[in-house]
Order: sequence, then structure tokens, then C-alpha cells
Amino acid sequence: MKHYLQFNDLSADEYTYLFERAALIKKKFKAYEKHHPLVDRTLAMIFEKASTRTRVSFEAGMYQLGGSVVHLTTGDSQLGRAEPIEDSAKVISRMVDLVMIRTYEQTKIESFAAHSRVPVINGLTNEFHPCQILADIFTFIEHRGSIQGKTVAWVGDGNNMANTWLQAAALLGFKVHVSTPRGYEVDEKLAGATAGSNQFFSDPLEACKGADLVTTDVWTSMGYEAENEERKKAFADWCVDAEMMAAAKPDALFMHCLPAHRGEEVEADVIDGPQSVVWDEAENRMHAQKALMEYLLLGKVA
Ligand code: CP
Ligand code: NVA
Repeated sequence: MKHYLQFNDLSADEYTYLFERAALIKKKFKAYEKHHPLVDRTLAMIFEKASTRTRVSFEAGMYQLGGSVVHLTTGDSQLGRAEPIEDSAKVISRMVDLVMIRTYEQTKIESFAAHSRVPVINGLTNEFHPCQILADIFTFIEHRGSIQGKTVAWVGDGNNMANTWLQAAALLGFKVHVSTPRGYEVDEKLAGATAGSNQFFSDPLEACKGADLVTTDVWTSMGYEAENEERKKAFADWCVDAEMMAAAKPDALFMHCLPAHRGEEVEADVIDGPQSVVWDEAENRMHAQKALMEYLLLGKVA
């Protein structure tokens, strides 16, 4: 049994399979062709933080695969009344086939997985957002072909998205240029462990030079709202604008996992401009996660 708790829980070979499978699943979806490998399977989705894309993509995706879903939040389950995570895992995993969790500390999802009888998927933690990077790389491949040897510029917070990009670059053979304000760096251990595939820049414009993809995220992630005012000051120069896009390769793409704050981490003319692929990126959450769910439950098919 495999869990998907962080990006490097799968190998480069498994990603090659998943990207091909996601493309096929997407093609079938666009042609209104039925694809029901998960009939009678149930996905439990547990949200301890808000979501639009993750909820819709997993829920719609699971129904499209022929399965069904159960949606739980902290507010409407015993999770919010301090039932131990281990007990919740034991109970929930006796009734469903797959669990997706969005929560705070990575240690929480690890504890859940350790006591789960079924595969567990990380739908975002403070530390990682692997399903998003899965979709982002699938989107890059659709637009530009293989990401191997390419350069991704990360501009902004050293958050769950940035950490996951670091893991992906080391695993799949591309480079990440990271520029974060001082005090908001990526995980130090992870930066060291992936040293061969990353480079750090104090100036975000420098980080964008020659990049094939420029990407960013909100200045304040969920769970850090109390730091919002302080962060607005610290991040003022980390706004992806036309000048940064001009420093990147002429055919560079722009991505943002969304939700976005125009005028903060990205200017409207970039996110709504011709190099932006954010809507494909959001849609691809569903196709990529359908391939992931199918793989975790059935292994490689065909
Ligand atoms: N990108 C992303 O995970 O969006 P949601 O928070 O809406 O799920
Ligand atoms: N880094 C953001 C991503 C939201 C999808 C957060 O954790 O809130």
C-alpha cells in the first residue's frame, strides 16, 4: 500500500506513468467517454482548512471514476472535538478505500497514515502540497514538453508550494531558482538535501532570468493569518510583474496554484496575460488526481 504524503513518495518512473495516464484520462473526459475503474470505491476527504479547487477536483474526479465521496471538516466531525488522529484514522479507514486530508502539520497526516488501512493523500499541509505540483508539472508538459533540464523560478514565500517544488526538481531533474524575503526561506534541511537542483537569489528579478516557468503563491498561507500585516511589508518587492516575466525566457509560462491576490504576489497583467496558464493548471488538478487515485488503488493499468 502506498501513501502520497509528499512529492518524493513516488519515483520518477511512477511520475512518467502518472503524467501519461492523466493525459489519457483528460482526453476521455473531454470526449465524454466513461472511465469507471473505481466503481464501489469511496474516498473520504477531510478538510481542516478551507478549499475550492482541492474539494471540487477530488470530489468531481472521484465521481467521474465511478466512485463516491464523503466530505468531513473539523467543524462537523469529532476531529474538531479532539478525537485522537490515530483513532480517527483507524475508524475512517475501515469504511472507505482512500483518504485525502488537508491539515496543518505534516506530522498529523503522517500519524493518520501510520494508522490507516488505506492509502492517504496529502491535500495540503503547512509543509507540502504535492497534488498541486503534480498538476503543475503535468500542465508544464502539456504546454512545453518534458520539464527535465528546465528552470522554474519561485518568487515569494518559502512555503508548502516552494518546498514541494524543491523535492520535485531533485526527483525529476530540473532546476529551481528561489527568491524569498529574508526570514521567509524554504525549509533549510530540504534546501540542503536538494542542493544540486536549487539556487537561491536575494533579488527576485535575478531568480527569473532565463526561467522556463515563473511561479508564485500568496504572501500569507492558511494558518499564518496573524502575520498578514507584517508579511505585506516584507513581501512588497516579491510581486511577479511584467519586468520579471521579461527577464525570463520569451516563451516562459506563469503559474499560480490559486487563490491569487492581484496587486500583491502577482500583477493583474501577468496572471491575466498571455503567458499565464493558471486556468489549465487549476483544471489539471482534477485530471492528475484522477490518475493518482486510480494508481494508488489499482496500480499501473494497461
Ligand atoms: N490550489 C489549491 O489547493 O486551491 P484550494 O485551496 O482552493 O483547494
Ligand atoms: N500556500 C497556500 C496554498 C493554498 C492553495 C496555503 O497553504 O494557504
